Amino acid sequence: MSVHKQDIKRITTHQLQEMKNRGEKIAMLTAYDYSMAKLIDGAGIDVVLVGDSASNVMAGHETTLPITLDQMIYHAASVVRAVKRALVVVDLPFGAYQGSSGEALRSSIRIMKEAGAHAVKLEGGSEIKESVQRILSAGIPVMGHLGLTPQSIYKFGTYTVRAKEEAEAQKLLEDAHLLEECGCFGIVLEKIPAVLAGKVASSLHIPLIGIGAGPDVDGQVLVMQDMLGITQEFKPRFLRRYADLSSIVTGAVGKYVADVKAKDFPNADEKY
Ligand code: KIV
Repeated sequence: MSVHKQDIKRITTHQLQEMKNRGEKIAMLTAYDYSMAKLIDGAGIDVVLVGDSASNVMAGHETTLPITLDQMIYHAASVVRAVKRALVVVDLPFGAYQGSSGEALRSSIRIMKEAGAHAVKLEGGSEIKESVQRILSAGIPVMGHLGLTPQSIYKFGTYTVRAKEEAEAQKLLEDAHLLEECGCFGIVLEKIPAVLAGKVASSLHIPLIGIGAGPDVDGQVLVMQDMLGITQEFKPRFLRRYADLSSIVTGAVGKYVADVKAKDFPNADEKY
């Protein structure tokens, strides 16, 4: 589906709620730069997440921890300039909200003001309740993130499926209800059993967006570089690759190098 200028109607958090209410699934992808954000917005994506996964896929770090608030704002501002239709949600990076609810609010205000974002996302449940309430009280829409929360990777020790045990599943369910009661407009559920994700989605009113959380949630999110086959090493079970861009890029660049070396580029028509 391509979106023409005259058709453009911005997606809001209210529309996401209506989508859940009428059973329409929500499609969300990450983006970190102007050019790719423009492409995915034009292709009809509902929500663009400027994820702190930029730390991995854009900056090459092993974890999401090193990316800074300034760097997130740079990525987010580039994405916002490109997006005409989708809701743009921006991750609060590690270290920009854990200190206090005041810090969480200040970081969120910077993201909204300097990047022009539409909403922020934070990882965690009851531990961040005060921060979520404070950000919401400033009129900033908040999305939660439960299950595998990559900013806590050194606490978990691995990136395996979360909430397989009853106690952790119960805490996740309680945290999801708490985030809904606080006023979050949606929650990302990452890498948890599909049955649990379905139970959470059906017991909450707000949309639940899954990544590795099975089909019984209200929408899906993937990291764009993973679903386009740009990242090759990352092969979790939940990932469906819709393209093999790494082969396309490698092939095109190899051909360009060969043409330059062979003095075949530029040709007579490609000069002034
Ligand atoms: O940072 C990110 O890309 C995310 C998604 C995996 C949901 O939080």
